[in-house]
Amino acid sequence: MMAADGRKIWMDGRLVDFANAQVHVLNHTLHYGVGVFEGIRAYETDQGGAVFRLKEHVRRLILSAKVYHMVIPFSAAEIERAVLETQAANGVLPSYIRPLVYRGEPALGVKNLKGKVSLAIAAIPAKKYLGEGSESGIRAKISPFRKPHSDANPSFAKSAGNYINSYLAGADASQDGYEEAILLDQNGYVAEGTGENVFLVRNGTLYTPGLESDILLGITRDSVIRIATDLGYPVVEKLLSVNELLTADEAFFTGTYAEIAPIKEVGHYKVGTQSPGPITAAVMSEFQRAIHGRDPKHASWLTPVPTLARATARVRAK
Ligand SMILES: Cc1ncc(COP(=O)(O)O)c(C=O)c1O
Repeated sequence: MMAADGRKIWMDGRLVDFANAQVHVLNHTLHYGVGVFEGIRAYETDQGGAVFRLKEHVRRLILSAKVYHMVIPFSAAEIERAVLETQAANGVLPSYIRPLVYRGEPALGVKNLKGKVSLAIAAIPAKKYLGEGSESGIRAKISPFRKPHSDANPSFAKSAGNYINSYLAGADASQDGYEEAILLDQNGYVAEGTGENVFLVRNGTLYTPGLESDILLGITRDSVIRIATDLGYPVVEKLLSVNELLTADEAFFTGTYAEIAPIKEVGHYKVGTQSPGPITAAVMSEFQRAIHGRDPKHASWLTPVPTLARATARVRAK
């Protein structure tokens, strides 16, 4: 049990002590993976703490829940305020914020839709997800585990169950000494990492797989597409073969937790000649400006975190 250290988890409208944030062992989500979640980040900016692309994350959470017949008992505006309240209550920056929608009551039976749908939100200190290579380049391997087709498990929903596939690929890569896995789709095209989208650069153009490769449509991916376009680099969404990845000038991962991480090797192949490559470095630098509130063009991507008193008052004032 964690010590009472002031950390709080938001559960269905109340901030509860970290150690008391519990669910029933027979809850439906724990047994069948039918839960949906988000990964969001809050950063320090010159104007104080701010949550990055909050609206887009909440919109995706609600859409993911819809796919799995879960009606979240809070509106988008209420969820946004709850995220801010959780961040304000925990204070730490940079943070990783994890809203989770689950059926919390005892409700066994895979077709059982009766369990009460709940929302919990945690905000924990963010670390470098892909380790030291996050800035200088990481080593990835092509996973023997492929992405399931979206006809089986819709990839655009960020569901708990989808991550058993990421888990298998990630465990295999780390046991082989790599920092990350790259999963292929059912047709053998490059799909994504275990928790990141993939980009490659060739002759000054960025390429990234689209939904037909059964990827999660990442919010960082979208930010990178906009930043690269602003910088004057064309971005093309298309099926990408492993050969195109291995012979790319540059490659990188994007994700909320991973941010933008250059890929320096794929299996035994070196990607490009330097890590990060020049275009990756330019996009990384613009992204850092945006998340820390130094890019006026993308100021709307940041939602300021109010003080706890104001955040609590706003969430309760329904
Ligand atoms: C499988 C998968 N792909 C891609 C991403 C990147 O998405 P985002 O940039 O919205 O975090 C994530 C992380 O959420 C993920 O888990």
